[in-house]
Amino acid sequence: MKILVTGACGQLGRTLMDIKDEDRHRYIFTDAYPATDGVLPLDICDADAVDRMVGDNGVQVIVNCAAYTDVAKAETQEDTAFKVNAEAPGALAKAAARSGAVLIHISTDYVFDGKSAVAYGEDAEPAPLSAYGRSKFAGELAVLASGCRHIIIRSAWLFSRYGKNFVKTILEKTSSQPSVKVVEDQIGTPTFAGDLAEFIMYIIDNDMLDKEGVYNYTNEGVCSWYDLAWEVCDQSGHLCDVIPCKTSDFPTGVERPAFSVLDKTKVKQTFLIEIPHWKDSLRFCMANMA
Ligand SMILES: NC(=O)c1ccc[n+]([C@@H]2O[C@H](COP(=O)([O-])OP(=O)(O)OC[C@H]3O[C@@H](n4cnc5c(N)ncnc54)[C@H](OP(=O)(O)O)[C@@H]3O)[C@@H](O)[C@H]2O)c1
Repeated sequence: MKILVTGACGQLGRTLMDIKDEDRHRYIFTDAYPATDGVLPLDICDADAVDRMVGDNGVQVIVNCAAYTDVAKAETQEDTAFKVNAEAPGALAKAAARSGAVLIHISTDYVFDGKSAVAYGEDAEPAPLSAYGRSKFAGELAVLASGCRHIIIRSAWLFSRYGKNFVKTILEKTSSQPSVKVVEDQIGTPTFAGDLAEFIMYIIDNDMLDKEGVYNYTNEGVCSWYDLAWEVCDQSGHLCDVIPCKTSDFPTGVERPAFSVLDKTKVKQTFLIEIPHWKDSLRFCMANMA
């Protein structure tokens, strides 16, 4: 397969680079501002450049890992967030539709308002609370409207050795501070970027690209940010007091879903996969952090 990866310098993109199998596939790794060897420049907001990249290279699968992911900044830069997270995926999807490529597009639990008492299925009604969530939901709609062959994967709470993420932040804080306060009233499920990347390649490797639709994919298990921070501290052996607090103790100017657990029944039944528990994947990730 000829695979185009956008946003290849981000957490998920870098992880896909790590597991590339060049005996089996040909890859084009791209990012707006490549900071990694082997990554070509491609700004997904440049629709003409996207069209040329997809059409001229005979791309068969696009994995869109590019996104505007700064949830707090998106509140004041909603236009930019919409350009990257909504309009650009629409352009990628149109390019895919023209060339017959399949678009694997990554979305988020932040499309939901977090008011549910049960895990969100794929058919639950999105009601994003934040500019980031609105832009990502608009991105999903743009992909669906294009008529391209698509697999949209909603994930959540990504962590990896790369980029900025909660696990790395907590590792740093618990190694240098006597205590750290972490919110206990936002509940969800972490996702190791390595597991999500393996799942994406599993779909491609096993000729499952015809299983179009929207799918939830996170690790197994449910926790709060406090639980995750406690586990990071425990697994790392750091001597730091992890103290639970409330979201209201740390006003950030962004409303985030209080409960964003995603139901993975559909993805497990459709693709016949087992998903690791977040604690096991955290252990693996932390052992390979350096
Ligand atoms: N991180 C999470 O917790 C989380 C949770 C749920 C879903 N997701 C979704 O999962 C996907 C991957 O997330 P991630 O954590 O790997 O994101 P990330 O680390 O922020 O990586 C995104 C990459 O896209 C690049 N990018 C931004 N604008 C671009 C553009 N116009 N053209 C091309 N590249 C551009 C970024 O470059 P710069 O760094 O230079 O901006 C970055 O290298 C995203 O769709 C995200 O919305 C993430």
